[in-house]
Amino acid sequence: MAKFRLPKNSQVEKGTTYYCSEEHGSVRRLKIYRWSPDDDRNPRLDVFEVDIDQCGPMVLDALILIKSKHDSSLSFRRSCREGICGSCSMNIDGTNQLACTTPMDSIDGEIGVYPLPHMEVMKDLVVDLSQFFAQYASVEPWLKNDNLPLEGERLQSIEERNRGDGAYECILCACCSTSCPSYWWNPDRYLGPAVLLQAYRWLTDSRDEAGDERLDQLQDSFRLYRCHTIMNCTNSCPKGLNPAKAIGEIKKMLHQRG
Ligand code: SF4
Ligand code: SF4
Ligand code: FES
Repeated sequence: MAKFRLPKNSQVEKGTTYYCSEEHGSVRRLKIYRWSPDDDRNPRLDVFEVDIDQCGPMVLDALILIKSKHDSSLSFRRSCREGICGSCSMNIDGTNQLACTTPMDSIDGEIGVYPLPHMEVMKDLVVDLSQFFAQYASVEPWLKNDNLPLEGERLQSIEERNRGDGAYECILCACCSTSCPSYWWNPDRYLGPAVLLQAYRWLTDSRDEAGDERLDQLQDSFRLYRCHTIMNCTNSCPKGLNPAKAIGEIKKMLHQRG
């Protein structure tokens, strides 16, 4: 009988525990995924005890404290610390979230911190998003209109402007796409919820004149129709957006176009 084994370096091992040396204060434990391309070690889970009286209330604050006090080699992305840039997306306590807007006190017990799922890990919590952004570029996310306005700016009515609500707020954090089973299995051919939400953002823009061209590009059994309305994407969006609904709207536009 054939035996199947995972490659040795795919097994996640127990790592180092960094105990908190503070005598006072409130201690939380963070269990963090570690992997480096610079050595031959397997991935491991290091445990860090942190005195949360020394940092802010969010998971990102604890990661920054760990990097400055315990292990400067810990790698993660972050920039704005305000839920705006989308850099600090990671899997926290089993859910894709932004570390900078996830309070530690929303999680009971040890806080598990992993990279976004089903993405190639570059180091620790940093994943390779090249393909994700190439897919974003493929929907040509800019205004297409060759006709200059007769005078002044391209104006929109309040209703036309409101159609962009729920799409323009997307910060491209990839929490939704990396929680989508269809994207896990076909990341090279299915565009995924984040990119489709952006495609929808331009399809609904009253100033854009490339709607047909955009729909032609999306009418594909993989690029769009790999969405099976599982809704993981909408459940995981830290900005409260609904990419699954946008995907449904694109399908409706294609249906109405015939
Ligand atoms: S609704 Fe579509 S895009 Fe969202 S998780 Fe499900 S399959 Fe993925
Ligand atoms: S739709 Fe939400 S989860 Fe998806 S990339 Fe945009 S902000 Fe992130
Ligand atoms: S650091 Fe910018 S969204 Fe978290």
